[in-house]
Amino acid sequence: MFETLTQAPGDKILALMGEFAADTRTDKIDLGVGVYKDEAGTTPIMSSVKKAEARILAAGKTKTYLGIGGNKGFGSAILDLSLADAVDRSRVRVAQAPGGTGSLWVLMQLVNRARPGATIWVSDPTWPNHKPIAENAGLKVATYPYFDTTTRGVKFAEMLAALDKLTKDDVVLLHGCCHNPTGANLTNAQWDQVAASLAKTGALPFIDLAYLGFGDGLLEDAYGTRKIVAAVPEALVAFSGSKNFGLYRERIGAAILIARDAAQADIAQSQLLNVIRSSYSQPPDHGAEIIRVILEDKDLRAEWETELNAMRNRMIRLREKLADAIRAKSNSKNFDFIAAHRGMFSLLGLPNSFVEHVKAANGIYMIGDSRINVAGIPEDRVGDLADAFIAAIG
Ligand code: LMR
Repeated sequence: MFETLTQAPGDKILALMGEFAADTRTDKIDLGVGVYKDEAGTTPIMSSVKKAEARILAAGKTKTYLGIGGNKGFGSAILDLSLADAVDRSRVRVAQAPGGTGSLWVLMQLVNRARPGATIWVSDPTWPNHKPIAENAGLKVATYPYFDTTTRGVKFAEMLAALDKLTKDDVVLLHGCCHNPTGANLTNAQWDQVAASLAKTGALPFIDLAYLGFGDGLLEDAYGTRKIVAAVPEALVAFSGSKNFGLYRERIGAAILIARDAAQADIAQSQLLNVIRSSYSQPPDHGAEIIRVILEDKDLRAEWETELNAMRNRMIRLREKLADAIRAKSNSKNFDFIAAHRGMFSLLGLPNSFVEHVKAANGIYMIGDSRINVAGIPEDRVGDLADAFIAAIG
């Protein structure tokens, strides 16, 4: 039977992880996959997570099923964290899902049940897995203008003009904060305009919230999501706990839906649970229970927020150091955008020949579109990076 198959395309981000691992150079630098790294270049388990795990291990009495929607305490804690009181909870439903990707997957299946073959508009560019997930769910994918390759900021006027043309049959995928891959984000005033546009056209906002707390702070990063859910009758949010809780391999996320009223929310939720039951039956619990324990305990929550703040501040510092070093060495402000971007990534806006050159000549790995993971920058190698970038640009 398998002779009918042809080779599937690889994932460029995960393929680069393998390529980096196989490189024998000891001074290589990994700016590829979106994984946080500390000063030592490792991705440690957060101390709040370790403590929550110890409590879970000590208190655990059963591994029986939790149900299709997963861990209920986790679900409500994530609603508090992401939406707070932006929308009446009677219209909101949540289901735990395996990671941000799992949340995107089940919500896109839900969209296709509501509007078979609908078009989902994604930013140009967007995370490379958005398109395959949407297409697997049966949706069509189109793009709206987003990144300005000259300023390395957002082409906001063009973006808004495109959103203004949408109809109630369209779906718009927005990055709630910390845009991946560009690092260029909307201002609060721009979020206000996007919310007003969606309220006017009736297009369904679908917010990917994978980096809450990695940009400017937990509250600051939730601004756009809260503004939008408060402004429109229906919305979807895919939350990920991979990055902000460092739980990558535990696969923990939440699929959130906001409906017009409680009755429609119940019906939509029944469809969402039906998608889950017929896909993987129920989500795994460990990551959800860790997050529930942390968010429900005052001390653990404070410790987690301190750890999250430290990660964010380190990324901002690395951004500033790299921009400063390039400015000092090249006498050009052309890379100051790195310091202005937020989140884990910056899209340098340079050609693939640059990416291939720094990989071959310097062992610096970044995604082929010139996306760098700023958390991967070793602080003592900022100068080397700046030299390599300047030499490659020529
Ligand atoms: C990334 O963009 O590098 C991360 O979201 C990891 C992934 O799954 O692609």
